[in-house]
Amino acid sequence: MRVLLIGSGGREHALAWKLAQSPLMTEFYAAPGNPGIAEHATLVGLDVDDHDAVIGFCKEKSIDFVVVGPEAPLVAGIADALRAAGIAVFGPSAAAAQLEGSKGFTKDICARYDIPTGAYQRFNNGPKAKAYVRAQGAPIVVKADGLAAGKGVTVAMTVEEALAAIDDCFEGAFGEAGAEVVIEAYLDGEEASFFCLCDGKHALALATAQDHKRVGDGDTGPNTGGMGAYSPAPVMTSEMIDRTMKKIIEPTMRGMAESGHPFSGVFFAGLMITAKGPELIEYNVRFGDPECQVLMMRLKSDLLPLLHACATGTLDQVTAEWSDDAALTVVMASKGYPGSYDKNTPIAALPSDGEGTKVFHAGTALKDGALVATGGRVLNITATGKTVGEAQKRAYELAGAVQWDNGFHRNDIGWRAIERET
Ligand code: AMP
Ligand code: GLY
Repeated sequence: MRVLLIGSGGREHALAWKLAQSPLMTEFYAAPGNPGIAEHATLVGLDVDDHDAVIGFCKEKSIDFVVVGPEAPLVAGIADALRAAGIAVFGPSAAAAQLEGSKGFTKDICARYDIPTGAYQRFNNGPKAKAYVRAQGAPIVVKADGLAAGKGVTVAMTVEEALAAIDDCFEGAFGEAGAEVVIEAYLDGEEASFFCLCDGKHALALATAQDHKRVGDGDTGPNTGGMGAYSPAPVMTSEMIDRTMKKIIEPTMRGMAESGHPFSGVFFAGLMITAKGPELIEYNVRFGDPECQVLMMRLKSDLLPLLHACATGTLDQVTAEWSDDAALTVVMASKGYPGSYDKNTPIAALPSDGEGTKVFHAGTALKDGALVATGGRVLNITATGKTVGEAQKRAYELAGAVQWDNGFHRNDIGWRAIERET
């Protein structure tokens, strides 16, 4: 199979690493890719916003299958354009990507199909939203409806905080994404991420993970794209997984199909495990970053036929096998992240990959032949172990061998799971 992968982050490096191991792979390209991905695929300087250019490249190289990593091109309709051109693609249509692109859209599906989630209302103006918050009281959650780079959510512990968040949204802090606001009941519990492939009619549960969104040890400081993750999530017992499939995933799949926009791709369900069981916080329509990195470390099956089955409606004919080992990844980021940081700082040395250890590249580039850090999140130092604790120990040993003066990482990735283990 001739494959094009779209994306350039640590998630895409993990997908590339795993896809490249497939015996079905005959030719492999990535756009735009990064120096880690270049070890597995030929990089192409395509503008992925230019759908005609992507289709042109696919025709020229007789690409059989396109795998889309990030959400932005999906929300922009790249999967629709490729499908219309007769090219198989892993990833949902723009209409189905609304599950991630609009929080209000997802909440309406939840309401219609009785999917457990926090009670909510949608608002397009400040005064009504504020009146609702005053009537409900705190804690309460205020969300910009659209894609806001992970910054559009305020978990308000006081009414004042919630009112300020409403002002922020309607005063344009999140641009168009804040033109509508969803106000949602606060859910109390432990968070977990659940990943599940879907071909529109069938769903195949993959695995669970937990991430650390805050920049500082002890889950303190500002939110980030994720400073580390591990899989599996101990809170996601097989009973919780069954309930998630029956009460959340299957009704969503049915709802999307009934609405005329069947979902094909990966459901990344953000869950809160409350006293009542799993409740949906949000959907993403792509793999998590860095959750994907730990999933790929644990996946024993060939990834390529699994993703291809999503695109061809044959997910009922494949299965996924997982290692019983845990996997954990530590994100190394540029000092200053998630605020401003220096770019093009030199990475002098990286440890080589070993048995169950892997350094994935996220924001790196080659400058005059030397590796430099170009992004906020730069490297994903990843290891497996019999327990999350062992995986953590191995990942931090590996992190110690990275020579990058401008880099930092958290020192406690996995603490919650390790507390349970001991
Ligand atoms: P989201 O961007 O929707 O993932 O929200 C970011 C984070 O806000 C989540 O990972 C949760 O930690 C928190 N959050 C979102 N919605 C709720 C809720 N209804 N109750 C409690 N925490 C929430
Ligand atoms: N790590 C969270 C995300 O990918 O959205």
